[in-house]
Amino acid sequence: MPDFTHSPVMVAEVLAALRPTPGGWWTDGTIGGGGHAAALLAASSPDGWLYGCDRDDAAVEAAKRRLTEFSGRFEVRQGNFADLAEWVPPSSCDGVLLDLGVSSPQLDVAERGFSFQQDGPLDMRMDRRQAVTAESLLNEASAEELAKVFWELGGERQARRLARAIARERECRRFVTTRQLAEFIEQLVPRHGRKMHPATRVFQAIRMVVNDEAGSLQRGLAGALRILKSGGRLAVITFHSQEDRIVKDFGRARARDYTFTGGMDVPELRAPCAPEVKWVQRKAIRPSVVEVAANPRSRSAQLRVMEKLGEACRLTGRKEPVGTSG
Ligand SMILES: C[S@@+](CC[C@H](N)C(=O)[O-])C[C@H]1O[C@@H](n2cnc3c(N)ncnc32)[C@H](O)[C@@H]1O
Repeated sequence: MPDFTHSPVMVAEVLAALRPTPGGWWTDGTIGGGGHAAALLAASSPDGWLYGCDRDDAAVEAAKRRLTEFSGRFEVRQGNFADLAEWVPPSSCDGVLLDLGVSSPQLDVAERGFSFQQDGPLDMRMDRRQAVTAESLLNEASAEELAKVFWELGGERQARRLARAIARERECRRFVTTRQLAEFIEQLVPRHGRKMHPATRVFQAIRMVVNDEAGSLQRGLAGALRILKSGGRLAVITFHSQEDRIVKDFGRARARDYTFTGGMDVPELRAPCAPEVKWVQRKAIRPSVVEVAANPRSRSAQLRVMEKLGEACRLTGRKEPVGTSG
């Protein structure tokens, strides 16, 4: 069995946010190596239940191995958390966790192609059953599409310049390895003593597109609300500003009064709706100095927590504002 070691971040903070108790039901949409899931199951002993999923087959296998001591108390599947509401019963869970991004094994195993620190194939798929890889995207998307991706998902200031240079270069040679791409970018954007590798943002952006991370997150947040009970909590850990903004915008929109349009912009069908969630804590929770020292990969983590409120659309009598869900 291949080794799969990932140190879960902010475990104490996640437990404080989700408040596991015996008999409760929890969902971990990014089960990874099962660290958070094990903590939730231990804290909800003897009979707490956990649904878990991950897009990565290696993570699913690792999590199942990690959770053997809790056997009979969990169901773990390979899949996208965007689809949680398709198999986890509605309004059943006391807490849902999404710990976004990649796991340490995904970064450290060169063949997965996520990291510019290792030389491997340009892959970056979390779910290796899917067709699109970093290589196919980088070699087949137009320069305009690449520039948009680098700018919008990576926040890369030199997005256009890099995209055009990649498009020119691939007329002579295909981009196939992580090192080839990282070195190519480093030639165009020298480091000038900066700590961050100049390819960091481009790698992040490509990874986000290959795995449709923004779209999955939008759908996953909406699905998480569907499977939560009233009073249940959603905890989301993000690792960069693009994904944190999606969580913040989602929470903000669902925490205020809004207008339900029945899916159509017809004035007669408009009805005011009550907020669906409240923030448990307005500001993001950060890892402690001690945790960052022990696990430097936790340094950019931010935890946001919201709580599902009761009946959302009182005037329409609907439990769910279907027309506004992601
Ligand atoms: C930071 S790790 C999670 C680690 C986990 N909390 C633990 O305790 O080991 C992130 C995991 O989320 C998975 N992932 C990312 N996006 C996903 C999605 N949309 N659906 C399911 N899993 C996803 C990745 O494959 C990776 O295994």
